[in-house]
Amino acid sequence: MSFPTIRMRRLRRTPALRELVNDVRISPSQLVYPVFVDENATTPIPITSMPGYNRLPVKQVVDVVGEAVEQEVKAVMLFGIPAKKDDVGSGAYAAEGVVQKAIRKLKSQFGAELVVIGDVCLCEYTSHGHCGVINNGTVENDATLELLQKTAISQAHAGVDMVAPSAMMDGQVQTIREGLDDEGFDQTAIMSYAVKYSSSFYGPFREAAESTPQYGNRKSYQMSYGSQREALREAELDVAEGADIIMVKPALSYMDIISCVKSAFNVPVAAYNVSGEYSMVKAAAEKGWIDEGSVALEILAGIKRAGADLIITYFAKDVKTWLNQK
Ligand code: PBG
Repeated sequence: MSFPTIRMRRLRRTPALRELVNDVRISPSQLVYPVFVDENATTPIPITSMPGYNRLPVKQVVDVVGEAVEQEVKAVMLFGIPAKKDDVGSGAYAAEGVVQKAIRKLKSQFGAELVVIGDVCLCEYTSHGHCGVINNGTVENDATLELLQKTAISQAHAGVDMVAPSAMMDGQVQTIREGLDDEGFDQTAIMSYAVKYSSSFYGPFREAAESTPQYGNRKSYQMSYGSQREALREAELDVAEGADIIMVKPALSYMDIISCVKSAFNVPVAAYNVSGEYSMVKAAAEKGWIDEGSVALEILAGIKRAGADLIITYFAKDVKTWLNQK
């Protein structure tokens, strides 16, 4: 075949042609909008390292989520900052805890229109900032499981659609599944943070949630970024324990992991486009070095191409506007 019989540029000629043949699309309905609810706040408190993001009082959650729903977002993930932290993270599983209150409000306002997901972890609720209970200086796995189970059950009582355990304790998915089923919540889904790396990209989130460990780090429970093999084992275990959706986190430095997990398992794969990944874009855009919207859409398309079915992203609310500007 002699050149130029095949001309790749034929299908790139117009926007309509390009759209017609694209094999990856971003839709706000596949994005999850994270929300921080702060029990101490009376007005929105800006998160300095995450421009455009606030910690919200419970009474404003419905309004802010309503703006996201207007933009065709259909899922939110809730993180709570309790009025008081203690050694065992009691605020995480209090019947009248800040997340439980927000869940009730959101479900009564939006019903089936909105998927409400609760992050299940202790780090925002413990005085030491670790994701589990401490015994003799280490985060104790099995004692923590019970508390994660209580947290999931209390969120289910409040009406949550899905729980998302993020503590990286071994056996957390199975313990939570059993706990939910025993209480009659067999329809409450589990999206497990199956493949969660110990990452410096979580920095801004920890400011937002006031959850920086007071000593040490999370490397004895979150994964080491030097390993790809371990990702498949973590995912395999969580699928076996009953996870309905498995998540890879962070996203951008872990595109290979998203791709491996996607091809190895037959469950929906979520990717978490984390706080540091958001803040970097915001900071460069504020300096006028990049265009926020087009860079964000390109990043989200990349995460989808890698194999993510759904994406948790702080950009969720703006995506529809940016797509319309394209
Ligand atoms: C709680 C949790 C963290 C994030 C989500 N759930 C922080 C951490 O593990 O330190 C990070 C999210 C982000 O950076 O956007 N365990």
